[in-house]
Amino acid sequence: MTVFPKGFLWGGAIAANQAEGAWQADGKGPSLVDVTEHGIGKSEHDDAVLPGKYYPNHEAIDFYHKYHEDLQAMSEMGFNCFRTSIAWSRLYPTGEETTPNEAGLRYYDDLFATMKKLGMEPVVTISHYETPLALHDKYGGWTDRHLIDLYERFCRTIFTRYGDVVHYWMTFNEMNNTHTIPYAAAAIDLTGDTDHRTQQIYQAEHNMYVANAKAVKSARELMPDAHMGIMLSLSQAAVYPATCAPEDVFGAMQMQRRTFISADVQLRGAYPAYAKRIFAEHHFELEMGPDDLQLIHDYPSEFLGFSYYRSSTYAAGTPLYGDTGGAVGKPNPYLKATDWGWQIDPLGLRWMCNLVQDRYNCPMFIVENGLGMKDTVSADGSIHDPARSDYLKAHVQAIGEAIKDGCNVMGYTWWGPIDIVSAGTGQMSKRYGFVYVDKDDEGHGTLARSKKDSFKTYRQIIATNGENVFTD
Ligand code: BG6
Repeated sequence: MTVFPKGFLWGGAIAANQAEGAWQADGKGPSLVDVTEHGIGKSEHDDAVLPGKYYPNHEAIDFYHKYHEDLQAMSEMGFNCFRTSIAWSRLYPTGEETTPNEAGLRYYDDLFATMKKLGMEPVVTISHYETPLALHDKYGGWTDRHLIDLYERFCRTIFTRYGDVVHYWMTFNEMNNTHTIPYAAAAIDLTGDTDHRTQQIYQAEHNMYVANAKAVKSARELMPDAHMGIMLSLSQAAVYPATCAPEDVFGAMQMQRRTFISADVQLRGAYPAYAKRIFAEHHFELEMGPDDLQLIHDYPSEFLGFSYYRSSTYAAGTPLYGDTGGAVGKPNPYLKATDWGWQIDPLGLRWMCNLVQDRYNCPMFIVENGLGMKDTVSADGSIHDPARSDYLKAHVQAIGEAIKDGCNVMGYTWWGPIDIVSAGTGQMSKRYGFVYVDKDDEGHGTLARSKKDSFKTYRQIIATNGENVFTD
């Protein structure tokens, strides 16, 4: 008996905006990220593209023109799936056109066909921090209900076009990050006092819940066999109380609920009881359409996709700090941290799998996990990155243990199997890849690709269907 089931999905994940570049090619319109310099996770952005300024995502790693070569490398590692997103503004440059941009559609036709040819199931995030900029400028992002119908049109277009080849879909990347990185996750610039900010966050999330339900409804009609999932960051749900003081323990639970509310609504089909109190204490009521709750009830999602990079620690009274990895309170003295301060905790991943299993009893897909670190290229061109291999093995082992615990894990996609632009910082030097890309933080480099030592590590893991992490 092997630990990982037959057909387990092994692969890697990227987002269109962090890899493709080609920000204006073939009719693409600007998205949120195209006016950010130091990462979309920072929420600071220009109002428009400033002439002569360097924007790291404009070229990114030019995956738009190099995906044949890049997917070939992924296939050499044995990937049987690959996760990416569809850049909304490549298809609908302002988000409001009534017909999609055919050149954009053709690009994804070939991208998915290439994956299929190489034996990889495409796994698609419909919206990954890349709302068309025009929708932010005109409507102020997801706090406005206009986005629901525009998103539905986008979904119907891609379901109709790609429904035969794409069977795994997730509607919004890390929706719960609206709390920590609202510009990225919900295209909003938070304004006003605490009550008003909280209202904006929950209103944006509500509108996205409705959009999710409408996407599930469209999917049932247009591609009945598709698997429809949500996607959340669980790094901030793996939250330990800093002490056994009841305030720390209870506060940690409340912090978890801030994440799980999204899953409670979209997987169970209704707002949980605790939501009412959050809204009341912040003096607002959600604006809802007459059919919203019925739609949410009738069209729940089927699986929970999640990212997990690190765990968090909650101490009552300590202000929370947030970035792309989610929210953290105090540093955890029992864990080591990366150069970017992300604390490494494989057991936290096993915990999250078990929590999801207990709470929702649904299939789960670990669609992001990885280690962002600096890499050094040796004189002979080799790149030795044992820390990345260790991180990978430890987390795959944790997933194996979770499966032995009884968790229904569908697959695992390492974040950034090829170096891409960091969402949190805009850096290239925060590298996750098994494949190195020759480009620095100022945009210099040849864009040449080369394999790191960890490439082999992942290839071996996949070749043994995860067994070698228990025996080697
Ligand atoms: C997740 C995002 O939050 O974390 C990705 O879905 C992101 O877009 C990843 O790249 C890692 O974060 P960062 O800031 O290191 O790129």
